[in-house]
Amino acid sequence: MDPAGQAAAAFRATHGKEPDGVWSAPGRVNLIGEHTDYNDGLVLPFALPQRVAVAASRRADDVLTFGTVRDGQAVNSTAERRVADLQPKTVDDWSAYPAGVAWALRERGIDVPGADLIFTSNVPTGAGLSSSAAIECATAIALLGLAGTDLPLPEVARVAQQAENDFVGMPCGILDQTASLRCTAGHALFLDVCSSEADHVPFDAMANGLEVLVIDTRVSHALAESEYADRRFGCERAAKALGVESLRDVSPADLAQAEEELPAELAPLVRHVVTENERVLATVRHLRAGELRSIGTFLNASHESLRDDYRVSCAELDLAVEAARQAGAIGARMTGGGFGGSAIALAEADAREAVAHAARAAFRERNLREPRIFSAVPSAGAGRDR
Ligand code: GLA
Repeated sequence: MDPAGQAAAAFRATHGKEPDGVWSAPGRVNLIGEHTDYNDGLVLPFALPQRVAVAASRRADDVLTFGTVRDGQAVNSTAERRVADLQPKTVDDWSAYPAGVAWALRERGIDVPGADLIFTSNVPTGAGLSSSAAIECATAIALLGLAGTDLPLPEVARVAQQAENDFVGMPCGILDQTASLRCTAGHALFLDVCSSEADHVPFDAMANGLEVLVIDTRVSHALAESEYADRRFGCERAAKALGVESLRDVSPADLAQAEEELPAELAPLVRHVVTENERVLATVRHLRAGELRSIGTFLNASHESLRDDYRVSCAELDLAVEAARQAGAIGARMTGGGFGGSAIALAEADAREAVAHAARAAFRERNLREPRIFSAVPSAGAGRDR
């Protein structure tokens, strides 16, 4: 059964009635455009087929309940919370994500009703595939649906991001939430974070005899969050030193001069952001021209830049990328925030097994846990299932 069917069944088992509705939102991979979102830059994610679903009904009072499903059974694993009592950084289990969304909607003056919500998910967690953004986005559209209110998707994305920034306390950008909400099947989403404008770029790897493999290293290094905040802060300092609002305002033509003006520890950050925006543009140009194979070189260059200039890769990600390339992948790179999580590899469909085998063998040789490997097909964004 898919997550939406499971959530509905668990809701019936727990509450003895049909839910008012079922909503779901996908995880994502980012094809290219990493650590550019909080610099007002360019990103190119696509949605995964794996989704978080939530079955939900309004309640007569203003209480929220959050349940999950374990072994087909609903588990009400969190305390009941009154909408009016929600306060940032007071919830320390997974329900901080949906509770944070209710809080962020309320902050915008939306009359969030009390509701029973039951969640299911097949998005791998801790894999850098945005399972938390999927929870946030599914919750946001469910609560808006129950409230009978509509918001434009860019605004829903900001609600979900605010939940994560202020309620949970993770200073992420808006890449993951926008991808989960606005991606469409068969396409990558070319998003300009500065304007919120997005374009759907056809990306049907399979029809072109290609596959995108996700290689989940299954490691997640403890310093990921502090290093993320550190890079973000570094970019802010660099922008300030250069007298620009964000690093988006540094053009490739200005880069050499900017690097000269900046302290040695900030110059490589700016170099990554400026060149990564250019790589997104180049990738979009090639995809639009139907030249899917030629994007491999940009994926590779992106990884090098994240590894050497931005310094957010790790040994396991480098190993996965290296093994994939040596086994014939056209291009490979880490995806998401880094310090663990997943890499992606673009490969000829008939090289798929060789690439997967090489990654597994490389991990085995170093006594690492076997990576989880699957093919990623660009899928639909968030929506109501029933
Ligand atoms: C994480 C964050 C995103 C983005 C990426 C890096 O996934 O949640 O906002 O910054 O890292 O591109």
